[in-house]
Amino acid sequence: MKSKLVIGNWKMNLTFEEADDLLNALQEGLADYNLQTEVVVCPPYPYLELATDLAEESNFYAGAQNCSQFNNGAYTGEVSAPMLSALGVEFCIVGHSERRKYFNESNEVIAQKVDRLMEQQLIPVVCCGETLEERKADKHFEVVEKQIKETLFHLKKEDFEHVVIAYEPVWAIGTGETATPAQAVEMHKFIRSLVEKKYGTEIAYNTYILYGGSCNAKNAIDLFANEDIDGGLIGGASLKSGDFITIIEAAETTTKEN
Ligand code: 13P
Repeated sequence: MKSKLVIGNWKMNLTFEEADDLLNALQEGLADYNLQTEVVVCPPYPYLELATDLAEESNFYAGAQNCSQFNNGAYTGEVSAPMLSALGVEFCIVGHSERRKYFNESNEVIAQKVDRLMEQQLIPVVCCGETLEERKADKHFEVVEKQIKETLFHLKKEDFEHVVIAYEPVWAIGTGETATPAQAVEMHKFIRSLVEKKYGTEIAYNTYILYGGSCNAKNAIDLFANEDIDGGLIGGASLKSGDFITIIEAAETTTKEN
């Protein structure tokens, strides 16, 4: 069984002091584990350097929540992949549904961001997922297929190997309503089948497909117990060190059991 990947997406939360406390609590809390699970923490930009500094001597990596589709220039307010790389960031979430919704990010722009990250050898964590209306209209597979194809399938095999996919049904994000393990598994299998058709069986097996959307300390174990769920992209529950560590423990337990 391959090891799991657990990523905390802090979104736009916490003061500098709270961020510092949480990072230190994670460093301490994870220090005694001989982890198989890979752990990534994605704080807001102003706290990234705290995270990259601590990550060097901790059981976690630092990730960003977004990057620009451009490398440099007159793009006020943007942060580029080369800047993230220079800070020591190793992962970057792109195409989160909140960015698609509030900042009008299209699949085309997300594909460009993936390319900028690839150029810096940063690992893109590419999000996909349907809205409630789309699921009710039975369009969820169609929507996710289009998102995956248009954001990722331009990549060459050797680049695609470094991509992480996160399935985050929009109706489950921050709502307390989690997809059932069966719903998540069904979509993860579907995504893996798309990857298999395009890049072959080995890459499909090796690709990390995470679940995100109200994944918490209580339900993580039931989700992670499924071999098609390679870990989680955790929002709210990543803001409390105890809950986040319990989720990481669920990843460890399910890796050993499988
Ligand atoms: P919640 O875990 O708060 O539902 O957020 C999920 C998410 O959007 C992670 O990227």
